[in-house]
Order: sequence, then C-alpha cells, then structure tokens
Amino acid sequence: MLTPSARLAAAPPLSPPPGWSAERLELHHGLLDRPAHIDPKFLYDALGSSLFAAITQLPEYYPTRCEAEIHAAHGAAIARHAGAVETLLDLGAGDCAKAERLFPVLRPRRYVPIDISTDYLEAAARRLRPAYPELRVTPLGQDFSQGLSLPTDIPSARRLFFYPGSSIGNLNPDDALAMLRHVRGLCPDGGLLIGVDRVKPREVLEPAYDDALRLTAAFNLNLLRHVNALLASDFQVEDWRHVALYNAERSRIEMHLEARRALRVRWPGGERAFQAGERIHTENSYKFTPDAFQGLLERAGYRDVRHWSDTRGWFSVFLAHA
Ligand code: AVI
Repeated sequence: MLTPSARLAAAPPLSPPPGWSAERLELHHGLLDRPAHIDPKFLYDALGSSLFAAITQLPEYYPTRCEAEIHAAHGAAIARHAGAVETLLDLGAGDCAKAERLFPVLRPRRYVPIDISTDYLEAAARRLRPAYPELRVTPLGQDFSQGLSLPTDIPSARRLFFYPGSSIGNLNPDDALAMLRHVRGLCPDGGLLIGVDRVKPREVLEPAYDDALRLTAAFNLNLLRHVNALLASDFQVEDWRHVALYNAERSRIEMHLEARRALRVRWPGGERAFQAGERIHTENSYKFTPDAFQGLLERAGYRDVRHWSDTRGWFSVFLAHA
C-alpha cells in the first residue's frame, strides 16, 4: 500500500505543462473556475460552424431572418446613411452571405471578410471572386475577440465595419463596449453597421436556443469534442445535457452544459470533479432595447446613430458614424 506522501508523488501533475498555448491555458483555467466556464468562441470548430449555419435555418431561430428582412426592406436607406464605402470589413464573416446581399446597395470597392475559421473563409472568398470581378476580396483569418490587427495595405479611408447577427450580444457588457470603441478607432471617417437582437418574451427567446430538432443542443455539446481535441481532455458527450434559459434580470440567454451524473474530467495537467447537475457556462447572448443599444454606441463614442427594425420589432440594425 502507498503511504500518503508516496501517493502524492504518484499523483498526476496538477499544473499545466510548460509551453502550453494561451488557448489551452484559457481552457484549463476556465474548467477549474467555480462555476466552470468555456468561452463561446470554442463552439466554432468546423462542425460547430456547420451546426450554427443549420441553426440559422430553424423556424425557432428568428434573428437571421429578421436581420435579412431589415436589410432587404431598408437597404437603400442604410446605404444613404453610410455614404461612400471604400472598404467593407465583415467581422465574423462565416460564409459571407450576409455581406454579399448588401454589395448591390453599399457598393464597396474592397471586401475584407474576417473570421476565426480560416478554411470556411477561404472557400467563401474563392466563391465570391469570380462573381464580383470588380471587388477586391482579401480575407483575414483572425480571432478578433482580443482586438483586431489590420494589414497596413487596407486603406484607412471610408471603412464600414459590418458586425451582423447580434454577435455583439455574445460579449459581456464591458467587452462589448471595449470592442465598439476599438472598432471606432479603426474607422476614423467611417462607421459601423451592426445587428442587435432585442429583448422579447421568454416564450420566443428560449425555443430559439433550445429547438425541437435539438440542433442547438448538438452545437453546444460539440464544444466538448472541440475541447477534447484542443486539451486532450476526456469529456464524454453523453454525460452532459444542453441547458438554455433566459435570465430576464440580465437580459440574456445563457447556455450551459449540465452533468447528467457525478463524474470526473481529466486532461494533461488538470482534472475536475463535477456533481450531478453541476454546469459549465458556455455562452451568453445579450438582448437589448433600442435605447440601451443606442446608449452603448454613444458611450463608445459613435455619433449620427440610426436604426431600423423588422415588422415584429424583434431585431434592430444600427448604423453609427465613428
Ligand atoms: C453567433 N451568435 C449571435 C448566436 C446567438 O444567437 O447568440 C450564437 C448561438 N448560440 C446558440 N444559438 C445561436
């Protein structure tokens, strides 16, 4: 039998091995926090990005359709308020389809789709170039969650940043403000066109994040497979359940993964026991009133703020000058 000190000596090291990437360290510390959390950017490996694209087709997931309705109905007014656009910079571009629908009205000379998922981006750029020979398409594979660094050959004049889909809602309020300020600094004589999901009844919000086909559950659970690939952890997907609930006090949908039984997860340099019912917080999706979002833009230093809404008033598109 091992003495207590021999047992300690035989125990696996509980600190991360030297040389770990910032990404692995972030996952390690998030899993050891109480409550545990994983940043929503880890939802988007190749399968996660495809699952999110499928979610946008669901009847319950209204934001994509509402935003498309606003762009179609108010595109001309949006373009008038934007003025001449030299470069359209698309934050989190994915398959570039949303920006593409605005090309005819915004008429940019250059298009810079920016996304963490580089493979997806290159494929979209290859599709766009022959269809728009006049447009210079220069994709940028970047995780802009910590700030954006633009290549010096992108002209600084007349930039319009495009941040659709209410992705701003996936940031906590301080980070959202910092991000809006950062973007404003990058477009001194330009602006920002941004989609924002609105506060609405729980009966509409919760099914949008917990759909009958369980696509959002698969999207959330796939995060564990992505984390296993990055961290060499041993999460068993079947041990976890998807939870989505509206936190009305904080105006946000929260997504969690909840342990179905008491279990232990191990990875090189760390391990964590979870009780049955214990959760890992995986995403917030903040919802805004138009006044609250206008206030946020103004605090970030924007001016000439205008917004348009869909017929049900479920979603808003804001255009603000820097
Ligand atoms: C990308 N983002 C705006 C989506 C949202 O609605 O917050 C992500 C998502 N999560 C679950 N369904 C969709």
